[in-house]
Amino acid sequence: DAPSRATERLGSGADDLARAAAILAEGGLVAFPTETVYGLGADGRNARAVAALYAAKERPRFNPLIGHLPTADAAMREGVFDEDARRLADAFWPGPLTLVVPVSTECSVCDLARAGLDSVALRVPYHPVASALLAACGFPVVAPSANRSGRVSPTEAEHVLADLQGRIDAVVDGGPTRVGVESTIVACLGSRPRLLRPGGLPREAIERVLRHPLEDGHPSASKPLAPGALASHYAPHARVRLEASESQPGEAALSFGPDLPGEAVARLNLSAAGDLAEAAARLFGHLRRLDAAGPDAIAVAPIPDIGLGEAINDRLRRAAAER
Ligand code: TXA
Ligand code: MG
Repeated sequence: DAPSRATERLGSGADDLARAAAILAEGGLVAFPTETVYGLGADGRNARAVAALYAAKERPRFNPLIGHLPTADAAMREGVFDEDARRLADAFWPGPLTLVVPVSTECSVCDLARAGLDSVALRVPYHPVASALLAACGFPVVAPSANRSGRVSPTEAEHVLADLQGRIDAVVDGGPTRVGVESTIVACLGSRPRLLRPGGLPREAIERVLRHPLEDGHPSASKPLAPGALASHYAPHARVRLEASESQPGEAALSFGPDLPGEAVARLNLSAAGDLAEAAARLFGHLRRLDAAGPDAIAVAPIPDIGLGEAINDRLRRAAAER
């Protein structure tokens, strides 16, 4: 079980970031904002720190972590970048894209953080607080989303504290995150680039740069897995009912565009204007708030499966999967 820790609340000024970097360098656990979601950071070179991170999150150890670096140059030292990987890094770093590439001989992300794989997931976040913190560290900071494993990802410092207060050493408060869903993960491992997880960078933007379609490495809306076969993840306490055209008594309503008709114990709209970027930024916060009303289920309106809608639908399907 995770030992209890006093959780410091830090701001994003220079002194507080120096403090956060010092805690990380000593093997501590610090949550920090990125443009996608808050991450729970540990020194990626330090297997003891990484083990403590898995324990704090209650995360299955075979699930490997993303190494965060302040610059593309620093990231490129950790892995071997083929031409496609280089092109994607040039086009989209810093930004909400994670690249999975073969480890380099200089890779400093430890075996435990990579779950023993000979590949490594790397990302350069586009967020002033994350960049300053990573630059102050000077080592790869591995960071999964800063929530208990299987819970909704945090987009505000308060969400981090709700899940992890007393289990981590500090949280750096940088306000709400802008993108709201996790990074898009693309594997460049010798064959054609493969989409492992849709996320904050739309597939269409990646395919324009590659000039060919991404290979599929994840279940899509057009080819959904049986709910039981889909690992439950991002799960609120309430059941989640997708593609709803109305809410039933006892349910909470999560609309997109026009408000869902019907009785509801609570109702929120991801974007009344039907804007997918706005919807992505609000998704996890709205799920948390509706869940707090204690509904029988959360009825969710259909979301178009284009652009950021692909990531939103991926997270919603996981939230709806059997537990
Ligand atoms: O936006 C994000 O990506 C956030 C912020 C904090 O940067 N991080 C995040 O990390 O979402 P996490 O741990 O929740 O998701 C990491 C994903 C996992 O699904 C893991 O399986 C995959 O990355 N991954 C990591 N290394 C991999 C590898 N070598 N091969 C394939 N998948 C890998
Ligand atoms: Mg996560």
